[in-house]
Amino acid sequence: MKKKWWHEKVAYQIYPKSFMDSNNDGIGDLRGIIGKLDYLQELGVEIVWLSPIYCSPLADQGYDISDYYNIDPRFGTMEDMDELIAEGKKRGIGIVMDLVVNHCSDEHEWFKKACEDPDGQYGKYFYIEDMKDGKVPCNWRSYFGGSVWEPLPGHPDKCYLHLFHKKQPDLNWENPQLRDEIYTMINWWLEKGLAGFRIDAIINIKKALPWRDYETDRDDGMIKPQRMLEDAVGIGEFLGEMRDRCFQVYDAFTAGEVFNEKEEDFPDFIGDNGYFSTMYDFRANNCGKSDKGWYDRTPVTPDQYRDSCFFSQKRAGDIGFYSNIIENHDEPRGVSHYIPEGDQNDVSKKMLGTLMFMLKGLPFIYQGQEIGMENTTFTSIDQIDDISTLDEYQVALNAGLTPEEALKTVAAESRDNARTPFQWNDGVNAGFTEGTPWLQVNPNYTRINLESQRNDPDSVYQYYRKLIALRKDPEYKETVVYGELIPVWEDQSNLMAFYRKSEEKTLLVIANFRREPRTIKLDTPYKKIVLNNCPKLTGTDSEITLEGYQVVILEV
Ligand code: GLC
Ligand code: CA
Repeated sequence: MKKKWWHEKVAYQIYPKSFMDSNNDGIGDLRGIIGKLDYLQELGVEIVWLSPIYCSPLADQGYDISDYYNIDPRFGTMEDMDELIAEGKKRGIGIVMDLVVNHCSDEHEWFKKACEDPDGQYGKYFYIEDMKDGKVPCNWRSYFGGSVWEPLPGHPDKCYLHLFHKKQPDLNWENPQLRDEIYTMINWWLEKGLAGFRIDAIINIKKALPWRDYETDRDDGMIKPQRMLEDAVGIGEFLGEMRDRCFQVYDAFTAGEVFNEKEEDFPDFIGDNGYFSTMYDFRANNCGKSDKGWYDRTPVTPDQYRDSCFFSQKRAGDIGFYSNIIENHDEPRGVSHYIPEGDQNDVSKKMLGTLMFMLKGLPFIYQGQEIGMENTTFTSIDQIDDISTLDEYQVALNAGLTPEEALKTVAAESRDNARTPFQWNDGVNAGFTEGTPWLQVNPNYTRINLESQRNDPDSVYQYYRKLIALRKDPEYKETVVYGELIPVWEDQSNLMAFYRKSEEKTLLVIANFRREPRTIKLDTPYKKIVLNNCPKLTGTDSEITLEGYQVVILEV
């Protein structure tokens, strides 16, 4: 694996709408982010990805773009964006934008023109088909529920494809003219000095054509779109072209949101000269998911978490770098999701952070993770904004759950859990806004907030700073960044342990992923405790006793 400039860094995701509101309209914005750059520098992050801030009707919170060349006025102006890039650079922080090009918004010029003239140039930017005897071309279900086909406005005899929401029509990547438009836009942004892109939902750009029905997986007669992805071949032609014509020219950093890639294609995605620099490891996040819907999901056990991480580590091996996460804007909070109920405390939060940071790959923090933000409480479906949660609520009701049961299941899984405003302090609206926040602040903000943790050396926040510092420490850097990962004691339940081995050093990470203490005999005596999430470590240099959720990084 060739070394790359970004390998040693720590990345951070900002969800702009919920990070910091500078003008008190209740919506986070670019000036809010600029005002917090010093904070991000203090934390130690050097790559910052912003979820979309382009012009958008916000049907899917900006993942429905109506103008790729402008900033949505709710988030600020192009001047603000330029300033953010420049101010980031001054602090050694590269700004990464979200590249959403599987689809745009139905309010984009291209789509409006396509509706005016479906047979014209812009009609070919989308997938528009004739209805046959009132029937749509195939039985695929969209990711957000319902058919992927929607009648084309003004043309009841035609329909257009949307793998996501109906306000997110899919762009036709088979059309070289469309691809040219996309590449021009990407390069326009890179010229501005962006460090790169996080690339949204990208596996979906290649469709299995011609349209065909598949065997249904629910009572609705439809099939999840992932089924068609199995039959879609040739995505590499598009992705290789995009790399060559855009990313490579600028040595840009790119993080792909990739699901369902074909096993044999994996090295092409993130190997040397891959389509992307890195891609997210979602294996643990996907544990326990059910085709039937969120209501049928089973909780992730510590052993499943460990096995998922190790599986991915082995897969990436020397091929490339995964980006490691415990959560993002599409997932519930990691500490609520992976730590068994009732055990969310500073110790267990630090343990999860340590595991994520000590895996091989790029650590990608999601805003608020560094202060241990948790899932919020929803007492009514009216408090939910997210379209996918609203759909899953309906799916749960259709499956026979009572409204209370349905709310409970979707509340645990809702994307809105991660989208509540950042908890800066214990003041009004957690210091996020003086206006009315677009999504209610998590009521636990008086207990969990940055201000109270900043001066507390034992806080989750200060612990994350230590994890980041360890990755940069000249003594440990080579091992933490590039050391081989070797799992140990995989036969022991609720234990996650592994070595990180480089030529100079060997580190041993041991996490007691349960409430009860446990004693462990080491294979060789340890020389030094590099990091410990508890005040002390009991035992000798060759036999240690870990408290519940204690994790240690030992030099052996
Ligand atoms: C990605 C985004 C998600 C969005 C979807 C459609 O999965 O992370 O937030 O809803 O793509 O763009
Ligand atoms: Ca604002």
